[in-house]
Amino acid sequence: MTFRKTIAAITLLSGAALCATAQAQSQPVKTGEQVYKETCVTCHGTGLLKAPKFGDKKDWAELIKEPQATLTADGWVGVRDMPAKGGKPDLAIEAFARAVAYMARSAGATWKDPDAAMMKQIQAEEKKALDKKAKEAKDGKAKK
Ligand code: HEC
Repeated sequence: MTFRKTIAAITLLSGAALCATAQAQSQPVKTGEQVYKETCVTCHGTGLLKAPKFGDKKDWAELIKEPQATLTADGWVGVRDMPAKGGKPDLAIEAFARAVAYMARSAGATWKDPDAAMMKQIQAEEKKALDKKAKEAKDGKAKK
């Protein structure tokens, strides 16, 4: 390889590395559909462990009567056989919230992907849901 070609190759390579870093840093939050298909479908696709089924209006009817922030936070911290964070510890709360909205829409709700104001409400509800869970654990009750 000539000197010039080597320099060209190095420039190209470091450009690619920089690009990859920039991409990792500015990775957008996944869509609800992506998260659902990667994580939630296992149970919610088939109703495994009695999970409310995707697209099943009857399964979701009572759930989507709850405020979006409350239902999202309750699912996020875990309910009975619903594992906290959908069983994926590195899942971001916003990604989870989008998946909830996506499933709710599949069952007829008009829930939007959460904006900043909704994320605030969800985080406030998360605190309440965690307190509730801790209290139930103390009282020895596993139920809601
Ligand atoms: C291991 C199976 C499993 C996976 C994976 C799972 N869920 Fe669930 N989910 C359940 C079950 C079971 C319930 C019903 C819990 C109950 O009410 O007893 C449930 C209930 C819920 C509820 C309703 C909570 C409530 O307050 O009643 C929401 C919201 C939810 N899941 C969201 C999600 C999202 C979003 C994902 C993916 C990121 C996910 N789940 C992944 C099993 C699962």
